[in-house]
Amino acid sequence: MIRKEFSRRNFLTTASASAAAVAATGKIPVYGKINKNVATLAVLGGQPVRTKDWSPWPIWNRDDEDQIISVLRSGNWFRGRGTLVSEFEKKYAELMGTRHCLATASGTTALLVALHVLGVDAGDEVLVAPYTFIATYNVVFITKALPIFVDTDQETFTMNPDKIEERINERTKAILPVHILGLPADMDRINAIAKKHNLLVIEDACQAWLAEYRNKKCGTLGDLGCFSFQNSKNLPAGEGGAIVGNDGEIMDRCHSFHNCGRPFGSVKSTSKYPVRGSNRRMQQFQAVILMSQMKRIKKDADTRLENALYLTSKIKDIPGIIPYKLANGATRSAYHLYPFRYKKEYFNNIPREKFLSALKAEGIPCSGGYGPQNKDGLVEDALNSRGYKRLYSRERLMRYREENRYPDNDQLCREAVWFSQSMLLGNKKDMDDIANAILKVYENRDKLV
Ligand SMILES: Cc1ncc(COP(=O)(O)O)c(C=O)c1O
Repeated sequence: MIRKEFSRRNFLTTASASAAAVAATGKIPVYGKINKNVATLAVLGGQPVRTKDWSPWPIWNRDDEDQIISVLRSGNWFRGRGTLVSEFEKKYAELMGTRHCLATASGTTALLVALHVLGVDAGDEVLVAPYTFIATYNVVFITKALPIFVDTDQETFTMNPDKIEERINERTKAILPVHILGLPADMDRINAIAKKHNLLVIEDACQAWLAEYRNKKCGTLGDLGCFSFQNSKNLPAGEGGAIVGNDGEIMDRCHSFHNCGRPFGSVKSTSKYPVRGSNRRMQQFQAVILMSQMKRIKKDADTRLENALYLTSKIKDIPGIIPYKLANGATRSAYHLYPFRYKKEYFNNIPREKFLSALKAEGIPCSGGYGPQNKDGLVEDALNSRGYKRLYSRERLMRYREENRYPDNDQLCREAVWFSQSMLLGNKKDMDDIANAILKVYENRDKLV
């Protein structure tokens, strides 16, 4: 018997007092506005739970427009001819509680700079969470190192610390945990393992602005933390990124590397280009948008948190719906996405894709999230390249292929359902719509088979 104890009374909506009163009797489920068509699933021709739009993203105002125009008219678009990028760096470091911040062109470039400066080199191995955006392991491949996946903890959606040590060998140089969807990874365990094996920790906090672990900001818990400000992100600038850290010398090296290897701070000017480098610089336009967007970030984060907790309280008892769990020590998610797992066994074995379509038809945008990207073409593309064949033995590459199986991650990729961060910027009524739509699909599951 897979049906867990479940009561429709959990789904009292704030939609209307009369609807709530009917629901409290337990006689009929509440699907937003009650009318005669509403019990038929929208995907089968009924009325959707919701027809109202969701919050757009990104959101800007006249002030953002004025600031952009003023940078445009100044002609000082590049960071070398203005102060805006440095101003943003100071403000972001303050927000994160770190001594330093370096702004970069994107989150990908932030990760590339961090890996290079911390000394991850060709032939090294880096432990990576496979449940992530592809950039997290593309950067390891671009550094000509091997991303070694560590299977995922399905409850927290993050790297499973129990599986880390079995993947460490003499070539392992760093751990690259990801605070994916805004959910903090178990940093106590990860840092303890890193310390024991003398490994670096580079946090991919590209989805985790203001997420907290033991009340400290994600991205400030390892050697360096990397952020993204791409368009969809909770702090958006179209493109953009940042590295935060407390070690001045390391951050100076990050600055030098991101500016074509020119001297900076403790990277002395023994020559015009004392170290290798690249152009990973942020533009003034990006910085000015970010400073404007930062004015709303704390309030938005609080709204998302409040709505996410409310939504969880509404959906956690629906059979087959398992909301995310915070890892041990995690104190706050950033809710770049709100995730839960969908167990089709409780829904008459309706495949997740059908569940998603039914939910979308009810007016609830949703997605199934990441696929098992460790099986994507990029892995073989790298392993078959001339460089990798030189850097790693045949035996190592063969074992790599054999070990490239992460069953917990695969299952999570089959079961995850996401709602985007901007949906959490609404009010409780919006969350009721989501909960009611899920409930409606559950109640009608036998009609979807
Ligand atoms: C987890 C994660 N890592 C890295 C990145 C790369 O950031 P960007 O797109 O700014 O290069 C992203 C962006 O989506 C991300 O979500």
